[in-house]
Amino acid sequence: MTVMLDLWYKSAVIYCIDVETFMDGNGDGIGDFEGLIDRLDYIAGLGINCIWLMPFYPTPNRDNGYDITDYYNVDPHLGTLGDFVEFLRQANDRGMRVIIDLVINHTSIDHPWFKAACKDKHSKYRDYYVWSEEKPADAEEGIIFPGYQESTWTYNEEAGAYYFHRFFEHQADLNIGNPQVREEFYKIMGFWLQLGISGFRVDAAPFLIELKGIEKQADIKDPYRYLKQMRNFLSWRRGDAIILAEANVPMEDVPKYFDDGDKLQMLFSFIVNQYLMLALAREAVAPLIQGLKAPPEIPEICQWAHFIRNHDELSLDKLSQEEQEEILTKFHQDKDQVWIYDRGIRRRFPPLVQGDERRIRLAYSLMFTMPGTPVLKAGEEIGMGDDLSLKQRDASRTPMQWSGESNGGFSTAPSDKLILPVIKEGEYGYPHLNVIAQRRDPNSLLNWMERAIRMLKECPEFGWGSWELIETDNSGVLALRYQWRDGTVVALHNLASYACTVTLKLDGDRVPEGSALRSARPTPEALRASPEGSSGSQSEIDWAYTDEHESRWIDLLGDQPYEPIKHPERGIQLEGYGYRWVRVGREHL
Ligand code: NOJ
Ligand code: CA
Repeated sequence: MTVMLDLWYKSAVIYCIDVETFMDGNGDGIGDFEGLIDRLDYIAGLGINCIWLMPFYPTPNRDNGYDITDYYNVDPHLGTLGDFVEFLRQANDRGMRVIIDLVINHTSIDHPWFKAACKDKHSKYRDYYVWSEEKPADAEEGIIFPGYQESTWTYNEEAGAYYFHRFFEHQADLNIGNPQVREEFYKIMGFWLQLGISGFRVDAAPFLIELKGIEKQADIKDPYRYLKQMRNFLSWRRGDAIILAEANVPMEDVPKYFDDGDKLQMLFSFIVNQYLMLALAREAVAPLIQGLKAPPEIPEICQWAHFIRNHDELSLDKLSQEEQEEILTKFHQDKDQVWIYDRGIRRRFPPLVQGDERRIRLAYSLMFTMPGTPVLKAGEEIGMGDDLSLKQRDASRTPMQWSGESNGGFSTAPSDKLILPVIKEGEYGYPHLNVIAQRRDPNSLLNWMERAIRMLKECPEFGWGSWELIETDNSGVLALRYQWRDGTVVALHNLASYACTVTLKLDGDRVPEGSALRSARPTPEALRASPEGSSGSQSEIDWAYTDEHESRWIDLLGDQPYEPIKHPERGIQLEGYGYRWVRVGREHL
């Protein structure tokens, strides 16, 4: 046994929960901490070891809780601070860490700070926000919710000035340039860290540090240093806490978020997500390879978070208009129904592939094996659908479907009292798509997820290792090799509908640096900086595929039982939309 660094997030499986739609414990139609606590065994049983809670703070709820009026409390509809602590304790007891949403780019305009700022020009809170006497000429630029947001500057009568809001007009941007605001950030972080959380999902990170409206403030040079300061504060308060940031930014900006590993630990990989969607739609791997190669190499302590769907629209903003159209066409979607904010699809994933179980599993198998850490949104594990009659992103935010009972077992309240309607009709309706039904069926998606997560945990190579592409003779097949310490695993995915026998380029095999098959091994700097033995270094890795162990390829997980791979060089079978996770070179357990 070798001692591992406590980079727990490198082998985490993160599960994202909106408390409000997860489980209603007191029967008022709104999910709450009582209900969530009751379902912790379910979550732990799935193999989850980190829960990400979406905003649960007091809120007028005009943006699903991303509009906060008190950073130090729990919304009374969801429970009390006592319930939160009990939840945290019980999650920890089951070996699960908890990270929480930190929404500090803006507050609700109902927050006492904003009210005080409007009321009194001389209040210290005035400078907590971003103001302008005149409406700036570019007020209609950079709108995040086109069609649903009119401007980024809105006049407030009482204040007698315009306030800046990157998002909806009820979300006033805080002024990060004000040291007192940054003090508030630290105090908020310190509060929740003290209660025992393991970190934050930082909302809207690029906008948090943008200097819009405060460009002239003298002391602001490099806004990214605010991230470093946050990280310092975080790490001094709790050494193993992390920041996982939402930052859908151009690739050249990525290093500014990770730096040498002294800023943020994790970013969501929007780039892989979008190119994965294009690849799945096209049934070809080239776009996914493009997505995987797009980001620069990142420091060893940093990590990508991969997802299929989150609680927002499926943003395709990094793709061309033709590619966006292609996805809509190939997924047979009606643009008028599903397209939102000029950039994305407001559906859950299964309806995009017409509920085809093979393609659903293929997508999640890919997510689990992307180099990084997977993030599941609650409900994905049972393949929930959506309700396009609901407004905007609510379509994919319907409550969890636990059973065939009324309201899908989510709540005992009358159906018209629910926070959002449960899906009742059709193939995604709760009468047959629910947790209980899937538990009884060994072949269900839920049971598949459990098996896949179990295997993922047995393969630290996916989360910790270096990876490289293996060239194949089939444009539908992605072959990735991952290496960590003495372990090697290979994941094969057939994105196309037809079965094949794929040939991998295994000999003469060391992939030259800078070639089309660029490996993502850590940089020499990162290796030097990393503590001994924390990762396979280049010199330790035997890239030559000639020794006697070579032919030991052991199937770990697949879409079906396959003939064992005795001679990998003679080709490997894959079903249409099939996949195989294989350990190479030694026994698995
Ligand atoms: C990103 C969140 O994911 C989204 O749901 C929200 O509307 C915006 N940030 C504003 O907080
Ligand atoms: Ca409730």
